[in-house]
Parts: sequence; structure tokens; C-alpha cells
Amino acid sequence: MNKIKIPKNRLRKLKTYALGQEPYELQKLNSKKIPKTLIDLCSNDYFGLSRDNDVVKASYEISLIEGLGSGGSRFITGSRPIHKLLETQLAEWLNQEKVLLFPSGFQANIAAVQGLVNRNSVVIADKFIHNSLLVGIKASGSRLVRFAHNDLKDLENKILKFNSTQKSILIIVESLYSMEGSIAPLKEIAKICKKYNVELLVDEAHALGILGPEGKGLSFDLSKNITMITGTFGKSFGSGGAFIACNSKVGEYLIQTSGAFRYTTALSPALAAGALKSLQKIKINKEWGINLLNASKEWKKEIIRNSTYPVKGESQILSIIVGQEEKAILLQKYLERNGFLAIAIRPPTVPENESRIRLTIRRDLNIDILKKFASILKSFK
Ligand SMILES: Cc1ncc(COP(=O)(O)O)c(C=O)c1O
Repeated sequence: MNKIKIPKNRLRKLKTYALGQEPYELQKLNSKKIPKTLIDLCSNDYFGLSRDNDVVKASYEISLIEGLGSGGSRFITGSRPIHKLLETQLAEWLNQEKVLLFPSGFQANIAAVQGLVNRNSVVIADKFIHNSLLVGIKASGSRLVRFAHNDLKDLENKILKFNSTQKSILIIVESLYSMEGSIAPLKEIAKICKKYNVELLVDEAHALGILGPEGKGLSFDLSKNITMITGTFGKSFGSGGAFIACNSKVGEYLIQTSGAFRYTTALSPALAAGALKSLQKIKINKEWGINLLNASKEWKKEIIRNSTYPVKGESQILSIIVGQEEKAILLQKYLERNGFLAIAIRPPTVPENESRIRLTIRRDLNIDILKKFASILKSFK
């Protein structure tokens, strides 16, 4: 450990927040002063379901029946009726044959990659895929090749390059990218994968509940051409835990072979019940996703009108591209002084000179909040 040296400007401090009075408020805790109330523009609780009364109640009530922790892996004593119920209802909603639960999206992604490739495989992945997928690729021993972000031509060229080798090929993309807020041309990607008969893994973490028909994700109509879909309950579902959706054959293969599924304590019944209640709410409120995307368009317009920085993002994730790391930190602090929590994302998470303030727009933010944010942004020098 003595040998590990992290450059000073890369050091990150863990901060603690309590919940504020309004559903979109957080309180930054501080040992010396009174907590500072901030408007949350950076969590992934897009619909505010983590604090929804029905969701929290469902979670509490199931704990009284099935216990808080599951106490074991799914193969030992960890499988509870709530797991089966959530898997079945999610599979039905997504029109998938099989859904398998995992304790986190990070773990589900590792399981998905390891289930599909090994050291005789090549993974061709979008340049901006999530760290969990990269960890899975590394652990699988497969060869990693990147294609330029959302670039279909580059993807096809990379497939052509490796298609004549003996190696199996897996393409990995996200449907909605967490740092760029950009949306993958998934239909075209699936078409290319079909043309060359290669496997496709899609991470729907940020899209679920928001994109696709009734929030069912961009994979919904394409699932016959996608080998596996991963999703998490930690974002729009306001809970925790995650899943892989696939066909029965692939699902059974994972159950029998995946260490990340077999050798871990099963998802807490409380989180599973919360996720199930959120699923039911998302199903009923079909317009939530579209409304959030429309509101996000308004946010983008106002930010562009009130700031000189370019803004990226075609979704509820928007990035104000500040460029210099130091300047992004200054803007973060300025926003915080004025009551907004919006974090500066810096290298190595994003490329050098692309430091940014990443905003995640929530369903419960109103027009007054947007106006206040825009005027504060305008006054930043
Ligand atoms: C694209 C993407 N995939 C997977 C994950 C991991 O999900 P979880 O938070 O459930 O571990 C995240 C979370 O940050 C993510 O942004």
C-alpha cells in the first residue's frame, strides 16, 4: 500500500448527506456548522421513488414477513417468494423469458460479461461503457477493442477486422450513457450484430423507466437480437439491486455457471419489494418517462441560454462541459454556495479537458427551481 500514490488533484473526499424536507432536497452534513440544504441535481433517483411512501411501506412490510437480509445465496436458503415475484413481473414487463436478480448493477454487469466471453473472445465495446463492464471484461480474460462513441461505421469496421478470426465476438453498449447523457443508435447496432451474427450485451441502467415504450428501455422491441440486457434498481426504481434479462437458455446457463449469481447473498427482500412497488408505479404512470425527457429539454434550453459552456445530453442526464478541471470545481462550489448540489466530473472519469458539471434532472423539479438555477449559472464568472 505504501507504494500507492494518488496525485493530490485526484483525491476525492467522501461527503455525507441527510434527506431534506422536500423530496428533491439533501442536507450536506458538516461537523462544525449547521447542515446546508441543497437541491439535488446529481442523484439517479429520477422519479423520487426512493422516498415514495408506497415504496418505502412495501419495503418495510415485506421485511416483517421475509426478514431484512436473505441470509444466504439463492442456491442455499436465500430465495424468497419476493425474488420470484419480482423476476416474473419484470420478465413479463420487458417481454423477456428470464430475469435473474443480483445485489447490484456492478455485479450484474460482471456476471453478464463473464457469462458471454472468455479468453478466446474479443469484446468490441463503446468507448464510454461503464467501469463495471470493463472490470467484467478484464476478469473474463477476453481481448478488449473499443469503438468510437456511438459510431456505427467504426463498430462495423472493428467487427470486420475480427470476424475472420476463430474468436467469438461480443458487442457491449449502454442504451443511455451515464456521463454523456447520449443515446445509443440501438436499432442500428442490433442490426449490425445480426448481420455478422455476433452477440450483443446492452446496459439499460439509466434508460429503464425513461426510454423506450412506456419506459421499458431501448432494448424492448429488439430483444430477439440482444443476448443479454442488464438493468439496475438503484436509479429510476429508487431501490437497490439489479438484474439480467435474457432468454431461458442463457438464463439457465447463468444460473448454473455464474459465480456472481451463485456465491453471493441474495438481494435483500426489502430492496426487492421496493423495486417491485416501483415497477408497479412506473407501469401505471406510463407518461413519467416522456414527461421527464420533455422537462430535461427545457432545462437544456435554459442552460444554453444562460451559460457560455456547451451542453451535452439528449436525456435526463445533461453535462455542462466546462473543460478545465479547476474551473469545473469552481462552478460546483459556486452552485453549492447558492443552494444546488451538482457535482464536477473530472478525469479519469471523463477525458482531460472535458471536466463538466453533470446534472441529472428529476421528475419533481419545478419551473421555479429551473429559473433559479439558470440565473445562478448566468452570474458565474
Ligand atoms: C451505466 C451503469 N451501469 C451499471 C451501474 C452499476 O449499477 P449499481 O449502482 O446498481 O451497482 C451504474 C451505476 O453507476 C451505471 O451508471
